[in-house]
Amino acid sequence: MNGKKAIVIGASHGWGAFLGGRLAEEGWEVTAIGRRSKPDLPDSAALRYLQADLATADGYQDVERELREQAPTLVVYNAVSYGPRDAKLPPLADLEATFKINALVPYHLLLNHVNQESSAEFCTYVVTNSDSIYHANKYSGIYAASKAALRVLTAALASACQSHHAAAATLLLGPLADKENFEKLQEVAERTGADLSVVTRRYLGKSNQAYVINSFLSYESCVKSVLTIASLGRDANGMLCKVDGGSSGSLV
Ligand SMILES: NC(=O)c1ccc[n+]([C@@H]2O[C@H](COP(=O)([O-])OP(=O)(O)OC[C@H]3O[C@@H](n4cnc5c(N)ncnc54)[C@H](OP(=O)(O)O)[C@@H]3O)[C@@H](O)[C@H]2O)c1
Repeated sequence: MNGKKAIVIGASHGWGAFLGGRLAEEGWEVTAIGRRSKPDLPDSAALRYLQADLATADGYQDVERELREQAPTLVVYNAVSYGPRDAKLPPLADLEATFKINALVPYHLLLNHVNQESSAEFCTYVVTNSDSIYHANKYSGIYAASKAALRVLTAALASACQSHHAAAATLLLGPLADKENFEKLQEVAERTGADLSVVTRRYLGKSNQAYVINSFLSYESCVKSVLTIASLGRDANGMLCKVDGGSSGSLV
């Protein structure tokens, strides 16, 4: 152990689970948080796991207590709701639930921790965001809008960190090499007889014309970005780290 403590919120699946395992490999004492009871974590033996649903008052309090008691030096907020995507007019309650998990909970939870923070240890907050904010459509609009709100709220959090022993940064990601993404395209490649690399390039081009990548982004690049942000101390406050394949074009 190197005396570094990390809490990864939203670490029972996807790249958050990978991050939890990799941080443990790098010598961090890691608490992984997710909703499911039996996460398939890469190296679960090395991780402490807290099951909590942040949409509920009890779950929120459990995570809030964990942050207070563990006194982490790194907190990654990675929990996400992809929200309603198909319904012609989704119920208002579904839209509110998406905004709650993606924007309001991370802001409130982390701001509360910043305000309570009395530890001598410096704490870095890394808030995972998405390149969806640059190209919303009728399917992704609610998710994208909640992530745009999260981006603004993370800037507000960084402003609060200025007078504390803490820094808040955004890690903005593009399309990741998820098992699900890979399997979906592999199925298309097998069905059409096309090469997987060609199918992937076509898919990325259709998703966002600004992409300058030919394949999905690796989980390992995301981990390295988190470790870099965490190594920067105060200089990471207000930082926007984009690992997004050029999703926003040339100016942003
Ligand atoms: N995947 C991509 O291609 C991509 C691209 C750009 C940005 N991102 C960003 O990367 C982050 C992770 O995305 P992902 O695709 O890896 O997500 P994911 O596989 O769906 O995993 C999300 C994690 O959040 C947890 N979670 C969701 N709702 C929760 C709640 N109410 N309370 C507690 N935990 C909750 C999930 O727990 P359970 O599974 O146990 O419910 C899971 O551990 C998100 O911020 C996303 O916007 C991803």
